[in-house]
Amino acid sequence: MTITEDTAQDYLIPDKIAQHAVLPASYADETSITYPAYEWLRKNNPLGLAKLDNFDPLWLVTKHHDLLEVERQPDLFTSGVLNPILNDQPSDAFVRSLTGGSYRAMDVLVYMDPPEHTKVRAVANKWFMPRNIRRFEGQMRELARQAVDRVLANDGECDFVKDFALGYPLHVIMTLFGVPEQDEPIMLQLTQEFFGVHDDELGPQVAPEPDAAARAFAAATEGFFAYFSALNADRRANPTDDLLSLIANSEIDGQPISEGYANGWYIAIATAGHDTTSSTISGAALELAKRPDQLAKVRADPALIPRLIEESLRWVSPVKHFMRAASRDTDLRGRRIKEGDRLMLLYASANRDEEVFDHADQFDIERDVRHVAFGAGPHACVGMHVVRLEMKVLFEELLPRIKGIELTGEPRWLKTNFVGGLRSMPVKLIKA
Ligand code: HEM
Repeated sequence: MTITEDTAQDYLIPDKIAQHAVLPASYADETSITYPAYEWLRKNNPLGLAKLDNFDPLWLVTKHHDLLEVERQPDLFTSGVLNPILNDQPSDAFVRSLTGGSYRAMDVLVYMDPPEHTKVRAVANKWFMPRNIRRFEGQMRELARQAVDRVLANDGECDFVKDFALGYPLHVIMTLFGVPEQDEPIMLQLTQEFFGVHDDELGPQVAPEPDAAARAFAAATEGFFAYFSALNADRRANPTDDLLSLIANSEIDGQPISEGYANGWYIAIATAGHDTTSSTISGAALELAKRPDQLAKVRADPALIPRLIEESLRWVSPVKHFMRAASRDTDLRGRRIKEGDRLMLLYASANRDEEVFDHADQFDIERDVRHVAFGAGPHACVGMHVVRLEMKVLFEELLPRIKGIELTGEPRWLKTNFVGGLRSMPVKLIKA
């Protein structure tokens, strides 16, 4: 690490605040721990340096403007040199022991820089554009209707996360993808192991070794590869019109896509494609439970549904961070960032930036949102149009059928600084 003591001193973040903004455990109590830490940082040290035991030093990017500055300059702030996902040092060392020194745990887009990134993204980028995604609205609506029917079949008492929000996005993405329905539980388990490596209830049970998180991540990755290799071979031999077939039979530089790149696409879609969306749906429901006036407004005027979706994305920001590394010395917000320095992009903080959002800490479905929940620049979320359509369809099916959401227990959040949101939320849905 090139950050030197003397350049860094002014910018050091107090230990407690750094722990609250960075470590997975604090995210289980995001309202009283993580968000106040973000707010403190935005006010007092908006681009500060966190120095935590077992972690490389990290610049915490908390402001909307700075986050966009970083994301839009992939040559200056790279994804492919150091790990784009935050690991502690023992976990990074473990990954590097598996890869012969590289931080790249798998051939997934988030680990790449242009021009490699551009070529690999082009494999399915068009498929994810609105014109193509719109074809699936009917299928999504059918899945949404079934999910709503199921959850309202009894008296409306349920765990909104486990009994409703987790299932629908998983079902949608696996249907688009072409994964057989009976394999969806395998996908859910692997995804939860993948994202839940720091969560003692959700993640795999691991011994408290220093590199335990990386070992668990590697095991989940192996599980995905084993599963998808067989499907990849099948779609090469018997192509259909699903997304799996498109990827399996694509070319990069005039050559059939390598198994590594194909697996990278599969794992990205299988993991990024549903937990993110289900966390957003659950987070929206929690706010609508707390704010019956907002629920009444959107029920009365369904044209507000797109705004509800964007505000929920801002509010939940289910992707908590990605990392970048400076490729050369540069200045940002008056700080000297040195070549090799690591920056942690805190999407949820940028989405509460008081300079960009009026009354940023209030959920308001009527605001015109310019959130960064999907990131920006060349790595901006490839699945954003899927998310918008599947959430629109879901709310169009759900909202006319419920007139209230009553919390019947304490909502609980996941312990994760990467992808997640609510773990559980007991509610009674009051039927219309
Ligand atoms: C609420 C739902 C979602 C949110 C908030 C979200 C957010 C994000 C964010 C913040 C990034 C990184 C952007 C950056 O570095 O600038 C990303 C990348 C990505 N997302 Fe999503 N995502 C969601 C759903 C999805 C879905 C449904 C899919 C696929 C079907 C998907 C696939 C991807 C992929 C493949 C990337 C890597 C793109 C790249 O590096 O070029 N995401 N997403």
